[in-house]
Amino acid sequence: WKEEKRCTFALFLQLFSLASAGLHRSDFPPSFLFGTSTSSYQIEGGYLDGNKSLNNWDVFTHLQGKIKDGSNGDVAADHYHRYMEDVELMHSLGVNSYRFSLSWSRILPSGRFGKTNLDGIKFYNDLIDSLLIKGIEPFVTLSHYDIPQELEDRYGAWLSSEIQKDFVYYAEVCFKAFGDRVKYWSTFNEPNVMVQKSYLTGTYPPSRCSVPVGHCPYGDSDLEPFIAAHNVILSHAAAVDVYKKSYQAQQGGSIGIVISMHWYEPLQDIPVDRLATERAQAFQSAWFLDPIVFGEYPPEMRQVLGSRLPTFSSADRRTLLQNKLDFVGVNHYTTEYVKDCMFSPCGLGGIERSNGYQDTTGERNGLPIGTPTAMPGFYVVPYGMEKMVMYVKERYGDLPMFVTENGFAQASSKNATAKDLLDDSDRVEYLESYLTSLTEAIRKGADVRGYFAWALVDNFEWLYGYTLRFGLCYVNFNTQERVPKLSAKWYKKLLQGSNLQQ
Ligand code: NOJ
Repeated sequence: WKEEKRCTFALFLQLFSLASAGLHRSDFPPSFLFGTSTSSYQIEGGYLDGNKSLNNWDVFTHLQGKIKDGSNGDVAADHYHRYMEDVELMHSLGVNSYRFSLSWSRILPSGRFGKTNLDGIKFYNDLIDSLLIKGIEPFVTLSHYDIPQELEDRYGAWLSSEIQKDFVYYAEVCFKAFGDRVKYWSTFNEPNVMVQKSYLTGTYPPSRCSVPVGHCPYGDSDLEPFIAAHNVILSHAAAVDVYKKSYQAQQGGSIGIVISMHWYEPLQDIPVDRLATERAQAFQSAWFLDPIVFGEYPPEMRQVLGSRLPTFSSADRRTLLQNKLDFVGVNHYTTEYVKDCMFSPCGLGGIERSNGYQDTTGERNGLPIGTPTAMPGFYVVPYGMEKMVMYVKERYGDLPMFVTENGFAQASSKNATAKDLLDDSDRVEYLESYLTSLTEAIRKGADVRGYFAWALVDNFEWLYGYTLRFGLCYVNFNTQERVPKLSAKWYKKLLQGSNLQQ
């Protein structure tokens, strides 16, 4: 008992001393959405419950050797059965919104080839209603990496234009079922990550590699990432078109897309590295946002790829341009150095990423860009938040933005106890410094309307399984008990508008 008291006291002292001198709720507009983020495959579990079919991640994680700790999302954080407790948890944190994704295979187990699954619709109706009762705004993603496996088996998913018909069909089912209460829709989460990991390096399903890598020595067609991206962009465009034509006026919501956005700095202050940095950004965020906003792929990409990059027909361009994106979702975690490698075998777009200390050739390049985190490739570089948001503002004009993800990973394991994880003062520091950087962008006029910390609870971290924990709340994966970490208490204080120093 004494030990427990000592721990609580120590946690309290840390919360006190870590509290930010500067950051305050009033640095953000009163209408600002402050929430937490999750995705269906990462937290729901219940992978066969309620007539859900298998999705691509269910199948993939069951193959040997794909996930670091051999785990999967079959149960995950069991949110499917515990969503009410999770809504209560959010309410206790004082968030006014919640970003989550819908499981496509729970709603349409066979895509457009079968019936809508009423159990799936009921699950999300119940979740949405529970959120609204607690004054929490649902911020919904249609596809966060997972798709019904049937679409992969029937026609090769994103490699086929057939998927555009499926995506728009699915989107419409969701607008009809939930659009009376959901006012924020995102079509996709991080399609830029999905197409590269699924079709370039092959580490995500369906494990296709357009570059020869260890686990995929022969390499599939090097056009696949671009074909997949093209189908994502046109699927997005078709869904937005339907929403704008048939639902938006009546339902009064908005629709956007969420992109993974690392900030990049040139490794050396030399022209080739500066150019490589511009290319890196184009091959990351502009790959998707330029077509959606301007109707064309970024010139930086066209210059490198020429006719390997698909083109938009005039009808496609019309659909893209007619439908103004309502917001951009910025998922931002880190900053990396970039070095030019245009004329040697290296990453897509002739860029090599580096932490500034050691690149992949083992060469030392100076000081690390920031403190490393448990997530490989993620460093703590708070200024990247301001710079990333300002880049979006400058490239796309005054499009409203939401920071849809930002968070910090703790190294862990599935059986790690609360005692090891509750004192996440490094996460508090991370969140505080990134939010402070975000206030700088807002001060400079960026139209940022919300911020979602990744994640509400510890969850299944894709290739890393349960070896990394991003949650503000600890999950005991044996009992499914949730316990708020220091960072959750800190976030609550921020949202309450309390002086964080007290
Ligand atoms: C972005 C992805 O959207 C999310 O699913 C993932 O867990 C986080 N990054 C952390 O890696």
